[in-house]
Amino acid sequence: MKQRLDKLISSKLNITRSQAKALIKSGGVTVNGTAVLSCEMKCGENDAITADGRDVDTREHVYIMLNKPQGVICATDGKGEKTVLDFLPDEMKRKGLFPAGRLDKDTTGFVLLTDDGEFAHRILSPKSHTVKTYIARLDAPITPEVIRDFESGMTLGGEKLLPAKLTPLAENAAQVEISQGIYHQVKRMFLKHRITVTALRRIKIGGVSLDDNLDEGECRYLTSAEISKIR
Ligand code: URA
Repeated sequence: MKQRLDKLISSKLNITRSQAKALIKSGGVTVNGTAVLSCEMKCGENDAITADGRDVDTREHVYIMLNKPQGVICATDGKGEKTVLDFLPDEMKRKGLFPAGRLDKDTTGFVLLTDDGEFAHRILSPKSHTVKTYIARLDAPITPEVIRDFESGMTLGGEKLLPAKLTPLAENAAQVEISQGIYHQVKRMFLKHRITVTALRRIKIGGVSLDDNLDEGECRYLTSAEISKIR
């Protein structure tokens, strides 16, 4: 989709419209190799744009995998607290980015950040049944009865949940696969069986695993193959 140069610069660099206009008027913006002084010029994804000598990412939408550390909230405004957006390097910042789905402050692992509302809505909708996979550390071992309750679709706070897969790992740890996103869902599912989750990490969304090469706090763009897999 083509749009006015000042609007595009403002949104892709996360600066105000007047800052974008001033930058263009000062000759700081090139389009396909030529300095452009007109804010009205219509540009889009197929144009090569630079601002202050740096390439501008003109893609309509971006999809980012972040390895979230503990103590960070999944929100766009932390009201003084650190948010997932604070981990984006400057060149990945753009207007309208938000976390597609929330992890608790103390949960670590895969958070997907995007500016594509339609995509986020689709993967978050309970109807999409996008599977999210977690590794949980527990304060007690799990029994066959707990596994059966997860797999049969347990009732939690009066609500019947979709079936979840529970796979025991090493002592007092388990892999959990759920396809909903109810508030504190994994912790509450274990708590129903008097088991406390002592650490929780999301390792997969849909068919896409958290990249092992990302240390906590690091992020990278999803590849187009990964975006299609999640879709
Ligand atoms: N379930 C939880 O209890 N917490 C999370 O952060 C994610 C799923």
